[in-house]
Amino acid sequence: MRKILFPFDGSESAVRALKYVIELHQAYGGLEVLAVNVQEDPPIYGEYVTAETIEVLREASRESAKRVLETAAEQLKAAGVPYTTFIAHGDVAHNLVALVEERGCKAIIMGTRGLGAFSSLLLGSTTQKVIHLSKVPVTLVK
Ligand SMILES: Nc1ncnc2c1ncn2[C@@H]1O[C@H](COP(=O)(O)OP(=O)(O)OP(=O)(O)O)[C@@H](O)[C@H]1O
Ligand SMILES: [Mg+2]
Repeated sequence: MRKILFPFDGSESAVRALKYVIELHQAYGGLEVLAVNVQEDPPIYGEYVTAETIEVLREASRESAKRVLETAAEQLKAAGVPYTTFIAHGDVAHNLVALVEERGCKAIIMGTRGLGAFSSLLLGSTTQKVIHLSKVPVTLVK
């Protein structure tokens, strides 16, 4: 099994990347997909925010990550692609490249763009950082 890291944020580009992952598996087989959603920590205003508030925010972000990953999981399952899902918190690109190392992923397949507002840019900042930091091949899907 060739383990692939698949960063998924639910964006149109990531959905097209999902379709490509499924097509690859159907054409060649042997893929194992680690679908990951990273929740960036919201800006916290120092001592004004209590520990309970932080926990409420974390819980909300876990819920939203779960919902996003569920849509990818449904499609992977329906297509018979072996997969696991994972939720991380913090800087997106750094979490992704750390996971590649930890989980022994052989490649990354991701979208060129995400949910960010500047759609005129060719590549989003997460993708740019991942290309810069990754030691394994990165496939980008437009
Ligand atoms: N929070 C995230 N969790 C998992 N994968 C992500 C996340 N954000 C982005 N990605 C992955 O990175 C790809 C490109 O998204 P990126 O964030 O680089 O673009 P953007 O949102 O358009 O730009 P920016 O974030 O710089 O405003 C997505 O298609 C997805 O595969
Ligand atoms: Mg983004």
